[in-house]
Amino acid sequence: MVENSLSPAAITNNLETRFVGQRVICYPSLSSTMEVAKQEVQRGAVAGTVIIADEQTAGRGRIKRLWLSPKGNIALSVILYPGVAYLPSLIMLVSLAVVHSIEAVTGLKPQLKWPNDVLINGKKVCGILIESNVRGDIVDYAIIGIGINVDLRLADFPEIQPTATSLSHEAGRDVSRLNVIRCLLVEIERLYLALAANNSIYEEWRDSLATLGSRVQVKSGETIYEGMAESVAGDGSLLLRHSDGSLTRIVAGDVTLRD
Ligand code: BTN
Repeated sequence: MVENSLSPAAITNNLETRFVGQRVICYPSLSSTMEVAKQEVQRGAVAGTVIIADEQTAGRGRIKRLWLSPKGNIALSVILYPGVAYLPSLIMLVSLAVVHSIEAVTGLKPQLKWPNDVLINGKKVCGILIESNVRGDIVDYAIIGIGINVDLRLADFPEIQPTATSLSHEAGRDVSRLNVIRCLLVEIERLYLALAANNSIYEEWRDSLATLGSRVQVKSGETIYEGMAESVAGDGSLLLRHSDGSLTRIVAGDVTLRD
């Protein structure tokens, strides 16, 4: 049996980080950890502050989608103040930190779907949302939102059943949220410091993308593109090769595999 509730003390106790997760605030229920993280930024929160909710009543996803966030799962936001040059790498960094942590705690082998969905056996287990405020070359803040389906009762949510999965379902056993969170915070900091030391994480991120080499449909705004996901650029954008040989660079969008 794994723990039911999370506490700041359990998360921070001997956590091997310098700043990420050294300040943790846990709530039983929130509309969205992103909202509270933003309020914390306005109050001058230190870098690495983490907001966690046992459940969210209005969890938000990318492209104004709703993120289902009942109890038993992970919903957290991490506050960072990166230099503007590191902003495009944050998506890569967080995706890799999630993959490494899931692997370390469960032994499962997640894959990435561009730009930042984490999949297991082709189904989504984690979503990542980054919200930032940038003025010129000043980043006021970047809030990293991470939602991981740990013990999501898929039968309760038929609308996402075909496309979503959870760690406990895939592992066939209970999975400790505490272990996943602690591992995640250590990994986020490790990769963040690696970036600051000018070590690229682009190659590892690119090589983890299950999307590359597949025929895909990409919805970007109101436009739908079709083609072969050929590669990703250093800024994280997707390079899509069309059947007429032309290439489109897509900065943001939603990918559906066609194969
Ligand atoms: C997506 O795949 O669309 C991104 C989902 C991000 C969900 C997380 S849960 C914690 C944080 N708080 C939110 O309201 N959203 C993010």
